[in-house]
Amino acid sequence: MAEPTLPVHRRRLFAGGAAAAVTAVVGPAGAVVGTAGAAAATAGTALADARAVEPFHGPHQAGVATAPQAHAVFVGLDLREGVGRDEVSRMMRLLTDDARRLTQGRPALADTEPELASLPARLTVTFGFGPGLFAAVGREKRRPAPVAALPAFTIDKLDKRWSGGDLLVQVCADDPLTVAHAVRMVVKDARSFARVRWTQRGFRRAAHAQRSGTTQRNVMGQLDGTVNPVPGTPEFERAVWVPEQGGWLSGGTTLVLRRIRAEMETWDAADVVAKEFTVGRRLADGAPLTGGTEHDEPDFAKLTATGFPVISEYAHIRRARVADPNLRIMRRVYNYDEGVAADGRADTGLLFASYQADIARQFVPVQERLAEVDLLNEWTTPIGSAVFAVPPGCGPDGWIGESLLS
Ligand code: HEM
Repeated sequence: MAEPTLPVHRRRLFAGGAAAAVTAVVGPAGAVVGTAGAAAATAGTALADARAVEPFHGPHQAGVATAPQAHAVFVGLDLREGVGRDEVSRMMRLLTDDARRLTQGRPALADTEPELASLPARLTVTFGFGPGLFAAVGREKRRPAPVAALPAFTIDKLDKRWSGGDLLVQVCADDPLTVAHAVRMVVKDARSFARVRWTQRGFRRAAHAQRSGTTQRNVMGQLDGTVNPVPGTPEFERAVWVPEQGGWLSGGTTLVLRRIRAEMETWDAADVVAKEFTVGRRLADGAPLTGGTEHDEPDFAKLTATGFPVISEYAHIRRARVADPNLRIMRRVYNYDEGVAADGRADTGLLFASYQADIARQFVPVQERLAEVDLLNEWTTPIGSAVFAVPPGCGPDGWIGESLLS
């Protein structure tokens, strides 16, 4: 599904707006009443969308299998000196309580702007523990080995300002004001235990701009997310969630967050053929270069008339391909755009968020292959990197991180 299609209530909104404009000038009184009725119905639908709630309690934290919301803020924090297990447990109880309330459309305790909590717009708040937290809480032995700085990849130009962190707070919602408020409340409550190391803001298409299930486009114009584990399938369960025998992290996952700059000046200079050759898919509809539609299998064996592979040996999708669906990574990618830098270059790219049960078995081999050779490397540069264990979810009496900390 490449083309954006407005859902019915959106079409109603525009139709209602146009009718209102006409009737305001020429329409009889009855028509005005009718239009007001349509406008009220539209407002009702919009309000229902803004009030939509994602469940907070469950075996997994929300914000991973959740259909990606339009806005995301990732905050990386460092624990303050002297903060240990008791303090982190206190903090996580507090932050869980904030998340539990805010995601359900209720103000946080001592919320300074409680009015902002009433439209959760599918808010999710997801927590992750970085490598440094384990030692601080005296649980180094329980740190999954791959939850550590990633191996150095040749393509990396990492900036400390976007890397590392002891604690992750990932806040996503379909409304940017909701996100801002939730971030503020959570960071405020974390303040005496941890300080902010970095904040990364991301976005996708506006909510309801496209039919749900439509693959998003990234800032480079590509359909991004076609081949991805699908929530609700056994493959997703196996690829993303840590299995039962995974100790305290069972039901959790791991996150690799890479900030990848898109070199838009040179990308813009490439023509469509070069851009499609780089990835191995068509820009217009995301179909593989070997034909068919977006979700058809690429034919990696197909040759051109002159005997070369139609999908290059170095194309991104060939290099990134993982044959076993149980070992795929789950990409929940956001765009970032910080405007134009002083040198005139666009400061834009991807917040590449990859969730998987096991970073070493799933993420690292793909990233190694891509670092070795991938045509896309010409136009993309990893400038930030952080890794987190994402604890399982909790019930109404529990808190996030309890299985590690208590
Ligand atoms: C700015 C950087 C990147 C861009 C613009 C990008 C873009 C794309 C695009 C357009 C596709 C094809 C459509 C799709 O299946 O989603 C794709 C596929 C994929 N990408 Fe990336 N990607 C980037 C970085 C990465 C990184 C860092 C990894 C992993 C380490 C990765 C892993 C994958 C995988 C696993 C696929 C699916 C391959 C398949 O089986 O067909 N990508 N990417």
